Amino acid sequence: MLVLADVHAYYGESHVLQGISLAVERGQIVSLLGRNGVGKTTTLRAIMGLVSPRAGQILYHGQPIGGLPPHRIARLGVQLVPENRGIFPGLTVHENLQVGAARPSNPARARHNAARVFEYFPVLRERLHQKGGSLSGGEQQQLTIARALMTGPELLLLDEPCEGLAPRVVHTLLQAIRDIRADGTTVLLVEQNVRAALQVAESHYVMDKGRIIGKFSSEALQADEELRTRFLGVSARL
Ligand SMILES: Nc1ncnc2c1ncn2[C@@H]1O[C@H](COP(=O)(O)OP(=O)(O)OP(=O)(O)O)[C@@H](O)[C@H]1O
Ligand SMILES: [Mg+2]
Repeated sequence: MLVLADVHAYYGESHVLQGISLAVERGQIVSLLGRNGVGKTTTLRAIMGLVSPRAGQILYHGQPIGGLPPHRIARLGVQLVPENRGIFPGLTVHENLQVGAARPSNPARARHNAARVFEYFPVLRERLHQKGGSLSGGEQQQLTIARALMTGPELLLLDEPCEGLAPRVVHTLLQAIRDIRADGTTVLLVEQNVRAALQVAESHYVMDKGRIIGKFSSEALQADEELRTRFLGVSARL
């Protein structure tokens, strides 16, 4: 579904992505792991068209999308849920969801998701007429994902959805991510929370300093203490 082949990207003179190659098959949950500042967010931004790759290819269903504007990539069915959440604090939960639903990339899938979104995130139904800004961090994160789903994406890019959330909220989110995949949406999940990634993704790309170190199964990642210690800062077995 998605292939990155030797993608290079810069912020000004700073060579942030130094040859990223990865692949995501339809129906998978794939994680992209790595320490602070290695280029995980930039990789997602390059896929979404928010950063133009200077070299290499990004293929979506075999078509080159590198350098297309973000709205064109969104129309193809790709949605990014950014780190900073970015809901509209002055709009109600219902209105935030309507904003997402306004321009569906796939109307049939969007209708299906709209019917399912309160099953993934029951708390949003309770908060439907509250302002987005009055929600807790975990509720805002759920709203951001829900809003992205209202467009009917086939590929969802999640940037550290579990960051800063209590374990109980993380548990809810991870279950929702599994359900979203079971309903047919493919997920590329950026995380620093390796434990969370291991609970939902079956394969994991590990990044360091703008490069992909390798692709690992959950079993391989759990077994390789040196890899986890060196590149993820987690020595304990997870
Ligand atoms: N807008 C920007 N302008 C210049 N440099 C940037 C910009 N955004 C990020 N960088 C730099 O690019 C590098 C990669 O950043 P990126 O945000 O992709 O990392 P990350 O892996 O997502 O980190 P984190 O885990 O902290 O979210 C870092 O060195 C960062 O300082
Ligand atoms: Mg980041």
